[in-house]
Amino acid sequence: MILVTGGAGFIGANFVLDWLAVHDEPVLNLDKLTYAGNLETLASLQGDARHVFVQGDIGDGALVADLLATHRPRAVINFAAESHVDRSIHGAEDFIQTNIVGTFRLLEAVRAHWGGLPEADKAGFRFLHVSTDEVYGSLAPDAPAFTETHGFEPNSPYSASKAASDHLVRAWHHTHGLPVLTTNCSNNYGPFHFPEKLIPLMIVNALAGKALPVYGDGMQVRDWLYVKDHCSAIRRVLEAGAVGETYNVGGWNEKPNIEIVHTICALLDELRPRADGASYTAQITHVKDRPGHDRRYAIDARKLEAALGWKPAETFESGIRKTVQWYLDHPDWVAHVQSGAYRQWVQAQYGAPVAA
Ligand code: NAD
Ligand code: DAU
Repeated sequence: MILVTGGAGFIGANFVLDWLAVHDEPVLNLDKLTYAGNLETLASLQGDARHVFVQGDIGDGALVADLLATHRPRAVINFAAESHVDRSIHGAEDFIQTNIVGTFRLLEAVRAHWGGLPEADKAGFRFLHVSTDEVYGSLAPDAPAFTETHGFEPNSPYSASKAASDHLVRAWHHTHGLPVLTTNCSNNYGPFHFPEKLIPLMIVNALAGKALPVYGDGMQVRDWLYVKDHCSAIRRVLEAGAVGETYNVGGWNEKPNIEIVHTICALLDELRPRADGASYTAQITHVKDRPGHDRRYAIDARKLEAALGWKPAETFESGIRKTVQWYLDHPDWVAHVQSGAYRQWVQAQYGAPVAA
């Protein structure tokens, strides 16, 4: 089996769902269930013996050691993190604890387990760390996209904490020989995305008749990748990535934020027109900019494409249409997230905290 951490979050849950759709290999899913963890996203796996969920912290070394000894996974894929830049600006403590201290404790528990494996299992074992393009900092308008050799220049508490975790993973390979892989991906979007992030926030606010808050001039550029393409890239890197290597993941889809918001409005105008016949663009409001806001990210994914033959399946146009349609088709998931009812899901569904 494989151990996935943070598998109740946006990307981790999409990864678990996709993994079990294409593999029979079981998944041990360790997630702390912070505000960002939502077991309702994994409701379709209820009763599926291939999915074992454990509520817990990657920073709990004893728990992780016990899980590794009991389940003996052949790989660990580390999605668990605090992930929202704005929250890291309001308070960085959880980011330091999970992204840095948590990753350190996870690495130590995995290293101890890995060190005791028989040689054949040791050679095949992998620790795949899921990271972000934000570690590279902000690009000038005409600068080439980030390659894997771009220097680290993180600008937010979030990206600094992720950069630290990437360095720890690198060091555990170089110093201790742990067979690691690292992926640095651009902005994801798609189903089950928590509506604190740009794309889901704009969709749910538009439908609720609320303002669409665009930070500053809205000309900050992000490079968008449909979440299921990120998941396929991680599967490919796990399968064939060279130990110790880093792979950038992206779909060559650079767009200014304001264009993203206009695209979402146009899709909603088509798929769910406003009752008054006006465009959803009437709800766009420019608000105060994010402190330290990175101006542009862009990923050069040629290494992953050339070395491992990975390509995204979705264009931005196909992916964003699917995403808007998904939110229209899943009002209950959205309502439970907005009301906070998703946090009672464990109790309601299972009657007690979940354990292995
Ligand atoms: P998310 O915030 O939606 O989910 C994070 C998950 O981790 C949640 O389920 C949460 O409960 C869990 N978690 C948090 N702290 C934990 C801890 N101490 N122990 C165990 N579980 C814990 O995040 P996401 O958007 O799914 O991102 C997943 C990973 O991918 C992160 O490492 C993030 O840095 C990286 N990433 C995200 C994006 C993006 O656009 N969202 C892009 C590139 C990389
Ligand atoms: O680049 C990868 C990163 O993408 C991941 O590592 C992070 O975990 C993920 O949260 C995301 O970070 P961003 O800060 O780019 O994503 P967010 O959706 O928060 O914002 C996208 C852009 O939209 C950014 O320029 C800020 C802007 N924005 C965001 C919100 C929430 C707005 O203009 N208004 C908003 O209300």
